[in-house]
Amino acid sequence: MTTQHPTASGFSDLSARKPACSAVVGLQWGDEGKGKIVDLMAAAHDAVVRYNGGANAGHSVVVAGSRYSLHLIPSGILYPGKAAVIGNGVVVDPWKVVDEIDGLAGKGVDTRGLVISDRAHVVLPYHKLEDGLREDLLNRSNPATAEGGSGNIGTTRRGIGPAYADKCQRAGAVRMRDLLRRDALRERLSLSLAVKKPLLSGLGLTDGSSDVDLDALTEKCLAVGQRLAPMIQDTTQLLHGMLGQGKSILFEGANGTLLDVDHGTYPYVTGSSCIASGIGTGTGVPATRVSRVIGVMKAYTTRVGSGPMPSELKNETGNRIRERGREYGTTTGRPRRVGWLDLVATKYSVMINGATGVALTMLDVLAGFDQVNACTAYEIDGKTYDYFVPDAIELSKAKPVLTTLPGWSQDLSTVTSRDRLPDNARKYVDFLEKYLGVPVQIVSVGPGREQTMIAM
Ligand code: GDP
Ligand code: IMO
Ligand code: MG
Repeated sequence: MTTQHPTASGFSDLSARKPACSAVVGLQWGDEGKGKIVDLMAAAHDAVVRYNGGANAGHSVVVAGSRYSLHLIPSGILYPGKAAVIGNGVVVDPWKVVDEIDGLAGKGVDTRGLVISDRAHVVLPYHKLEDGLREDLLNRSNPATAEGGSGNIGTTRRGIGPAYADKCQRAGAVRMRDLLRRDALRERLSLSLAVKKPLLSGLGLTDGSSDVDLDALTEKCLAVGQRLAPMIQDTTQLLHGMLGQGKSILFEGANGTLLDVDHGTYPYVTGSSCIASGIGTGTGVPATRVSRVIGVMKAYTTRVGSGPMPSELKNETGNRIRERGREYGTTTGRPRRVGWLDLVATKYSVMINGATGVALTMLDVLAGFDQVNACTAYEIDGKTYDYFVPDAIELSKAKPVLTTLPGWSQDLSTVTSRDRLPDNARKYVDFLEKYLGVPVQIVSVGPGREQTMIAM
């Protein structure tokens, strides 16, 4: 790519030092600004690796005024010469990868660094059909739940849940390498369709979709396999080879800790291990190789889809934050639910991930309020909790206990160091840092690379 890369303050120091492996994970319900932080940190690493999720992720990166929206390709692709690896733990929609490669190439980005695990499971068109039909059916048949939400999860309809479910079901599941071998592919698809056809018609699929036609699907898969063939390889060997040469790897988390299938607000979660521990299963690189875990959090909270969110603001304040922060989904365009910063939830995420530091994003968005609030405890059935309660039924009853701090009116978008922040903005950062018990090492005040303060 020929674009000039503006640098954040402190950024050159960061790239001068070669750290061991690092991870960037989301500490909330996704969309924390992981893409921007990965893009910054990629400068100091040789490879950027996705380990979980699929095209449900939407990571926006702004470089020199141009916006890139990445769904499956790691954000490190924007640096020429770095390996951008999709690990085995990702569920890959190969047609979406092709679209993303073409879109990036159209903007002058060199995508030759892209590598895809031969063991990553494939999201097939019928997974997306299943995802959408299930959501519609659940919503119709069970419009209200014990959590007070709608019956469906509010998924991105990108086939994530069905693809991970088939991975665990095993028979008939297709992995990237299978796209390169006709006989095995046809056999797997045939097994899978034997189950999917009755399932999908039971869910309400009426037309004779080519997405469930064995011949058409086999040819479609082989064609996309041909296109991606040069990129498909054993990424576990590739990554360990790089480690053996002393190279450093950055792991890019997708989704967020509170959407983790085990540690999030189940069942209102995604299908994968979003937390740093997911790196081991999702890439084959053991946790002991990752020495730095940066947890990304917004200065407030957002959530897309169903599920409890104790600090949610369903009022003018929430609308104001949504508009100032342009809180509309990168993947689905849905308006994000908005609330005050939930420090109880975020502290839990710091703990679960073993975060060594925090990247605080969107501080600029909170400018202009007389006061800002942070949720520092919950009240559930008259009892006060100072720790997170991931059980969705219990959490839906939680009333936020808010700590109020004075706001600030100044525009932060050009501030270049933490000690030059307006007093009240600095006090807000100090307050949350003390509450979380880990250093805030990055403060972001705008989408651009240069709108970042780094101290690590
Ligand atoms: P991700 O999924 O965690 O990578 O986050 P998204 O890309 O979905 O959403 C974050 C959005 O906020 C993107 O549009 C970013 O360009 C933007 N962004 C990131 N950091 C900041 C910041 O500090 N201030 C503002 N105003 N926008 C930011
Ligand atoms: P990034 O990486 C925000 C949410 C969906 C839904 C739930 C399950 O951009 O932070 P799924 O399609 O995964 O089965 O949906 O999880 N969700 C996200 N919300 N950001 C994301 O990714 C998300 N990925 C999934 O909205 O509530
Ligand atoms: Mg996102």
